[in-house]
Amino acid sequence: MILLDGKHTSNQIKEEIKDTVSGMKSRGERVPHLAAVLVGNDGASLTYVGSKVRSCEYVGFDSTLIHLEENITEAVLLKQIEKLNQDKTLDGYIVQLPLPKHIDEEKILLAIDPKKDVDGFHPANFGRMALELDAFIPATPFGIMQLLERYKVPTNGKHCVVVGRSHIVGRPISILMSQKGPAGNATVTVAHSRTEQLAELTRQADIIVMALGIPEYLTADMVKEGATIIDVGITRVADDSHPKGYVIKGDVKFDEVAQKAHFITPVPGGIGPMTIAMLLKNTLLARQWNAS
Ligand code: GUN
Repeated sequence: MILLDGKHTSNQIKEEIKDTVSGMKSRGERVPHLAAVLVGNDGASLTYVGSKVRSCEYVGFDSTLIHLEENITEAVLLKQIEKLNQDKTLDGYIVQLPLPKHIDEEKILLAIDPKKDVDGFHPANFGRMALELDAFIPATPFGIMQLLERYKVPTNGKHCVVVGRSHIVGRPISILMSQKGPAGNATVTVAHSRTEQLAELTRQADIIVMALGIPEYLTADMVKEGATIIDVGITRVADDSHPKGYVIKGDVKFDEVAQKAHFITPVPGGIGPMTIAMLLKNTLLARQWNAS
């Protein structure tokens, strides 16, 4: 069994980005600048955004955190977005999700200039990605593709079953893996909560991407010997014996599935760390694309 070590690979990618930024600095060029908009005080969102800002500092990017009150109006947030769209010192920005219920998430995401949409959530980027044009690919599927490519996991002609059809993970990874190119050329099946006989499908898969959000859903009996397992799940499960009061669980029953898998991602330390590295990569791409 080979562990697909997202922590190690994401550190490697960060070092590559750091080197590129050093080169930019030494040539007197402006370094990439990422902004993150956070509305309210959701615990997980605070952790994620903090981690994104710290990673920017690590690789030498400029970063700006815009922390807004939970009760701001949609109109005020839209004004802030417009300001960020106009800001010539800024290469890319993200609006951390989820947003408070009184704000229409779709309206906000549509207001982001696609050229600064380093999360890749705008329909223009999704469409460009599907058409194999230069696009910001959402960080999670981008991270999965990088991990598969760097570990040389065979995908050419293989059957990949993606479990989950979200706009951020399941749908885009199913498109990317079916496209030509590295980590591509797979035959992809998209399964979801309405799929009948899921275990029969997953047992046929050479690669399984679990993006369902149900802790430890995939068990050993659902997996073929030698399969590649990608676990995108990160659910906080209450656990009083842990100092934080919770533990992070993936969608895969790791201990038993690892016995049968050839390649497998752990949780934590698998896809999670890759997403931040790919957000940085998108910000670097934004700097490069928007400069020319
Ligand atoms: N919330 C959970 N994941 C993400 C992400 O990748 N981007 C943003 N903006 N919000 C998130």
